[in-house]
Amino acid sequence: MNTPLIDPFARAITYLRVSVTDRCDFRCVYCMSENMTFLPKKELLTLEELDRMCSAFIDLGVEKLRITGGEPLVRRGIMTFFNDMSRHLERGALKELTLTTNGSQLERYADDLAAAGVRRINISLDTLDEGKFADVTRWGRLPQVLRGIDAAQKAGLRVKINTVALKGFNEEELPKLTEWCAERGMDLTWIEVMPMGDIGNENRIGQYWSLKDVRAQYESAYTVSDLAERTGGPARYVRLEETGQKIGFITPLSHNFCESCNRVRLTCTGELFMCLGQEDKADLRPALREHPDSDLPLHDAIRNAILHKPKGHDFDYSRQRLDGQMSRHMSHTGG
Ligand code: 5AD
Ligand code: SF4
Repeated sequence: MNTPLIDPFARAITYLRVSVTDRCDFRCVYCMSENMTFLPKKELLTLEELDRMCSAFIDLGVEKLRITGGEPLVRRGIMTFFNDMSRHLERGALKELTLTTNGSQLERYADDLAAAGVRRINISLDTLDEGKFADVTRWGRLPQVLRGIDAAQKAGLRVKINTVALKGFNEEELPKLTEWCAERGMDLTWIEVMPMGDIGNENRIGQYWSLKDVRAQYESAYTVSDLAERTGGPARYVRLEETGQKIGFITPLSHNFCESCNRVRLTCTGELFMCLGQEDKADLRPALREHPDSDLPLHDAIRNAILHKPKGHDFDYSRQRLDGQMSRHMSHTGG
């Protein structure tokens, strides 16, 4: 019997986030510079290796898998991977297979994702203004993403919108975004912008807007009730009584969720990051590649890595410098 993954702080690790590519068809200003250099393709885990990695985590008790990137749906052959993962859903070992996407490829893939057993997806969308959308994503076009959202809903996928809160950019769009989501039966989660990676000299858009202010905006316009629901991550939820919507607040810079952390992150190169805000990592690739016929060394490597999961993280905006600033990109570790 495989004993489940428990870290030194008695937290059960049941949630794996997997970045399947660092590439993206957008260049969001808070995420990448316009001339972002990506990893050489040969550094990426193959789709077969990704399958072995994820299957090993599922063998060790992971019940929820979130596929991220970069943009996961630009990875060639990615539907093969989703189709293959569905076997773990069918046998009940995996409870949820999900993804976070920018929506650009959903018109093409929504039906296939639903057929593979995906039930809910997160779609990133920071503005409903076409011009501003092009400004913030640089290479993205709003109509394409809106068609993707329609396709996802038509395919029966439950859609949650993720919006990065950006000062002076989407502040005044809060009511419009909220109503637009309500009309479509979609929940909306606001994400505090994080100090990740070298994003070039971009300070026109991309400034920190505290979610305390976002929440205050809701409280002035709606009846807001706190929900007890926790996902083991940095999200908190409220219900808007008027619309019935769930509104989420992701404040990764606060420390108050670490004690219930249930997750680790696998990069597209096979490194396991134990905490979003720490550099602690373990390279799982040798255990995978040097033992093509047995997953036991990989299981051992995973268990050993989990023994090094830190208690909490180090982001801190309150200091003058961004002391907790991470050198790696979200697109490498997956948000
Ligand atoms: N801060 C906050 N969110 C970010 N994302 C990408 N970079 C950052 C950042 N620096 C978000 C995207 C998407 C998710 C994958 O991560 O907007 O919603
Ligand atoms: Fe791509 Fe998401 Fe980064 Fe935007 S935030 S560039 S959509 S990975």
